[in-house]
Amino acid sequence: MKRILITGATGNVGMVIIRCLFMNCVEEQIVAGVRNIPEAKRKFAENKKLEFVRFDFENPETFKQALEHIDLVFLLRPPHISDVDRYFKPLIEAIRQAGIQKVIFLSVQGAEKSKVIPHNKIEKLIIQAEIPFISLRPSYFMQNLTTTLLKDIQEKRKIILPAGNAKFNWIDIENIGEAVAFLVCKFQEYCNRAIEMTGYENKNFSEVVDLINKNTAIKVVFINSNPFRFYRIKKQEGMQKEMIMVMILLHFLPRFQKEPRISDFYEKLTGKKPIGLIEFIKREKTKFENK
Ligand SMILES: NC(=O)c1ccc[n+]([C@@H]2O[C@H](COP(=O)([O-])OP(=O)(O)OC[C@H]3O[C@@H](n4cnc5c(N)ncnc54)[C@H](OP(=O)(O)O)[C@@H]3O)[C@@H](O)[C@H]2O)c1
Repeated sequence: MKRILITGATGNVGMVIIRCLFMNCVEEQIVAGVRNIPEAKRKFAENKKLEFVRFDFENPETFKQALEHIDLVFLLRPPHISDVDRYFKPLIEAIRQAGIQKVIFLSVQGAEKSKVIPHNKIEKLIIQAEIPFISLRPSYFMQNLTTTLLKDIQEKRKIILPAGNAKFNWIDIENIGEAVAFLVCKFQEYCNRAIEMTGYENKNFSEVVDLINKNTAIKVVFINSNPFRFYRIKKQEGMQKEMIMVMILLHFLPRFQKEPRISDFYEKLTGKKPIGLIEFIKREKTKFENK
């Protein structure tokens, strides 16, 4: 039986991927690589078939055992880990040494353009190690609205970001999970490619707020904050410095860039249209309304 290791298993993307893999890949054993097994077991209490192994990006001693008898690694970069040389270099070397011949890496749209973003370096490390790979480069997650931005939406009825009028391409993580499940089965077909995966809508935050207001019972406003003010607000709220910097990079830089490219990869791969923002907002309505 083939074995697939999922890193970041307890996170937003990991959990969806595991659900999609269990729906699609009946013949593979799915293994969640987690730093806290008891806690992870509680999160996946309903899934009796999922295996767990201790895996900590920040502790190379966990790599060997986690990678033993693994055929494919789904690799992501936890948002707080940016020192690629320190954490990813030894990990990718361990993957190579374990003789693993398939890595699906969750990158980000535009990773090829910026040498400073960690995903760019990680993609290169995988290529240099000559490990057969697929780098999936998704656009901006719709789920940012129901995770990082949710507290402000629920408590202040505001989205505060240094994003100005920048347009983002919006993709639902559910579609990423489905795509990864397809790619596991079609690995050879897409091997050694970096693939952009987007939804079909480029929208700025004012437009998204309009959609939230039209499709829920709440009224939200978008506050365009300059990066310094944004930093102060989030620091006062207790957000970690590294996380604030990630938020600023993610939302401020697109103001100076072209609109994101739109890709039909998801539709070609799955035969379905990607989930749109209105469908997402209606599905997640109760979270926004805090009911
Ligand atoms: N947000 C976007 O719009 C967007 C768009 C494109 C790409 N991305 C990329 O998506 C990735 C984030 O995915 P996500 O939203 O699923 O992240 P997430 O929800 O923050 O989950 C992070 C996962 O990493 C695990 N983790 C953290 N530190 C770890 C460690 N030291 N050892 C082992 N596991 C560890 C966490 O486990 P615990 O349960 O132990 O904390 C959790 O499972 C980032 O690389 C980001 O750049 C994001």
